[in-house]
Amino acid sequence: MSEPPGMSTSSPALDLREEILRLKNERNAVILAHNYQIGVIQDLADFVGDSLGLSYQAQETDAEVIAFCGVHFMAETAKILNPNKTVILPDRDAGCSLEQSCPAPALQKYLEDHADRNYYVIAYINCSAGVKALSDVICTSGNAIRIVEQAPPDRPILFVPDENLGAWVMENCDRRMDLWKGACYVHVEFTRNSIQKIKDEYPDAVVVAHPECTTAVRLLADEVCSTEKMISFCQNADARNIIVVTEGGMLHRLRKEAPGKNLIAGPTDNCACSECRYMKMNTLEKLHACLENLEPQIEIPEGIRRKAEAAVVRMLEQSR
Ligand code: 13P
Ligand code: SF4
Repeated sequence: MSEPPGMSTSSPALDLREEILRLKNERNAVILAHNYQIGVIQDLADFVGDSLGLSYQAQETDAEVIAFCGVHFMAETAKILNPNKTVILPDRDAGCSLEQSCPAPALQKYLEDHADRNYYVIAYINCSAGVKALSDVICTSGNAIRIVEQAPPDRPILFVPDENLGAWVMENCDRRMDLWKGACYVHVEFTRNSIQKIKDEYPDAVVVAHPECTTAVRLLADEVCSTEKMISFCQNADARNIIVVTEGGMLHRLRKEAPGKNLIAGPTDNCACSECRYMKMNTLEKLHACLENLEPQIEIPEGIRRKAEAAVVRMLEQSR
């Protein structure tokens, strides 16, 4: 049957994807996407990964434009490393509860009030450029233990802003740290009860959890790791049933890259699959618009950027 005049059989989503790829080439752009992005964005990205992998990609790219499909602090890290490139984020409001839990002025005041401690400040990458600029070194969930182990032995450590990740690091090395009281609003929703219930349903299942989860939940896990390491853990696990305790977007890549496994989204007490509202602000339409208009762009005052860069580069060097 022939197509009616003016009608197309191709889907609007397909057209939009093609348009995004056309604009990407025209702009000499690279599309970087975090593991929690919606599936259609992951599928057309040049690289999908965790915060550490994305930072290395941002450092190494020779594209002129970085379209960062993730949250604000991730795009900001790309800009910290690439002051002369254009870094765009599909939705300017894609924030992070951890970033919000540690405003730079509050950290600055804390450091001034405790100047006698001479803290070595280690900041989890989920924080603003302002907080990075006040820090000695940055870490991600993928390298936190390594970074803490390399801290000067004669200085006390202040770890900001995630108290759960900080507690997990302390459980896995012999350094003590003072912890900032911040948390990820998504990962603290998982409870021991919600995970135990699903374990009871699948008694042979193994559990992999993100270190942003509470200690009570981490204690139920067979493996605690970054989103990137979850891929190899699931691929190599002997068990077929795997309970994945992190943001639900993770399941998209896992289902493609560990196809033989029955991957079960870790439930909370209120929902079957937890989503980060910030990560989910990015859509195909917004990605298209930001590549077309080169807006919203990430801008950082140069004085802050330079200090933040020293802390980020130290991390990249210490985790190679
Ligand atoms: P990863 O670096 O492990 O991907 O974690 C980022 C994050 O925001 C987890 O909530
Ligand atoms: Fe931030 Fe949590 Fe969302 Fe990760 S999942 S971006 S830590 S709010």
